Amino acid sequence: MTKRIPVILDGDPGHDDAIAWVLANASPLLDIKAVTSVCGNQTIQKTTYNAGRIMTLIDLNVPLAMGRVKPLVADPIIAPTVHGNSGLDGPALPEPKHKPVEQDACTLMAEVIEASEEPVALIPTGPLTNVAALLLLYPHLKPKIRHIYLMGGGIQYGNWTPAAEFNILVDPEAADIVFTSGVPITMAGLDVTEQALVFPEDFERIRAVGNPVAKVVAEWLDFFYGFHRSIGYPGAPVHDAVAVAALIRPDIMTMEDMYVAVETTGDYCRGATVGDRLGVLHRPANARVIMGIDREAFVDLLVEAATCYNKGGERA
Ligand code: RIB
Ligand code: CA
Repeated sequence: MTKRIPVILDGDPGHDDAIAWVLANASPLLDIKAVTSVCGNQTIQKTTYNAGRIMTLIDLNVPLAMGRVKPLVADPIIAPTVHGNSGLDGPALPEPKHKPVEQDACTLMAEVIEASEEPVALIPTGPLTNVAALLLLYPHLKPKIRHIYLMGGGIQYGNWTPAAEFNILVDPEAADIVFTSGVPITMAGLDVTEQALVFPEDFERIRAVGNPVAKVVAEWLDFFYGFHRSIGYPGAPVHDAVAVAALIRPDIMTMEDMYVAVETTGDYCRGATVGDRLGVLHRPANARVIMGIDREAFVDLLVEAATCYNKGGERA
């Protein structure tokens, strides 16, 4: 039996963060050590509350720490049109079983990394504010960060501006710190996450699994698809779950190593992740960028994860 990989989940739930966490919690490959919330899709208060509700639903009993109240420099941007005013509109969820711990997110991250015998993988699926703070405040811990599997950016286009993807745009200064940190990065950007579409017929496969978690995941997809259908998508792009899948099933993806720069200035391009695919800058690659995915294998992964929860919601 191979040793499970210690991971920290950092996100701004958010429907796709929630589905990513259901996937991570179902994987026998991962040992989730902590969860940290970040402001993004909604305010830090709401994403922290949502994190507690998700963790209770999936019986994930690890410390939860609240992240910073705003990006490092920028003013917050939230996304109620996509995720609703609660940040996780749709199905009823249990109240959080546990309160967040006293420590803030980057302190908890540092404590977990420090205490771990093995290097810890970080899976940020929101703005990179907490991860950047960790790297700034605890640079000596970099060698104990196994890898950062992040959802964010897009080499070819943005989704919140023509150039920038939401997570990076919310905190470009943080993203720049992460991409220049020297810590190994796998980037699940829009290039791949917009291929990771889950279609309504896939929702029904998950709903048919029949346990409480599967039912909620299907209803999260119902809600999340509502926004995307209104702008012409044939399915729901479950962006954040691709970052988890990159760790547990890289074999269903195609990836390219390249130098990626984060634009932090400009009227039109702030928050862009500029990928040097052709190597014209002759700079060493700082990110493994996912460019393709086997969509059906990805959906099968989500269905399989849903079957791992039994009638009580806890992981079977
Ligand atoms: O652009 C998609 C990303 O922004 C996802 O992480 C979604 O949850 C939102 O945070
Ligand atoms: Ca997210």
